[in-house]
Amino acid sequence: ETDPVKLMKQEVGRAAAAQVKSGSIVGLGTGSTTAYAIQFIGDRIQSGELEDIQGIPTSFQASVLAKKHGIPLTTLDEVSRIDIAIDGADEVDPQKNLIKGGGAAHTREKVVDSLADHFIVVVDSSKLVDRLGSTFALPVEVLPMAIAPVTRALEALGGKVELRMGVKKDGPVITDQGNMVLDVTLEGIDQPAELEKTLNNIPGVLDNGLFIGVADEVLIGEVKDGQATVR
Ligand code: A5P
Repeated sequence: ETDPVKLMKQEVGRAAAAQVKSGSIVGLGTGSTTAYAIQFIGDRIQSGELEDIQGIPTSFQASVLAKKHGIPLTTLDEVSRIDIAIDGADEVDPQKNLIKGGGAAHTREKVVDSLADHFIVVVDSSKLVDRLGSTFALPVEVLPMAIAPVTRALEALGGKVELRMGVKKDGPVITDQGNMVLDVTLEGIDQPAELEKTLNNIPGVLDNGLFIGVADEVLIGEVKDGQATVR
């Protein structure tokens, strides 16, 4: 791998995968950085270094990747705890609070990541911000029949609201759960813990991308002199 951003993602993915121990139930996150962690966990299983691993995918993408790399999967109906979760983020602040949902997977991610005894966030240094919401619009997953009233409620809170549209599809993005995503530009969030609750109180909102006090550890990939390092 030579692309510096991909190199950073690869190295943080490798570092996170190295923390998984045999016998663990592992939350498998979504996105291009976590994809490397899933690949490296699979490699460690195939080499015999890791045994008795069960993955809990946070999305269709994570489930497909886990199967491709030979990671056995389970569900929250089968197990009552998650030992470790590895997931990416779209913004990380100095308190380890996050904005997630750039891949429209934040609702399931929050269920899995918040159940984990140890939740490791894997990002490259471009995701670090002083204040959440300063660069990335906040994703909110919404029931399709409630799109209009939820849009009005979010606008009343001062947000600029956009229905997320598909790339190779005419019309809105549909989440793995069959819902839609509103991206809310707020230009900096002052009280993220309060905002997370306020948004989730709007009828029709499934969950928003604020992850407050959920992350235990943040691994940050950096490139120095052409070398990818993790801090
Ligand atoms: C998925 O909805 C997001 O929460 C991802 O975890 C996030 O977009 C990170 O993806 P990358 O690692 O590809 O940046």
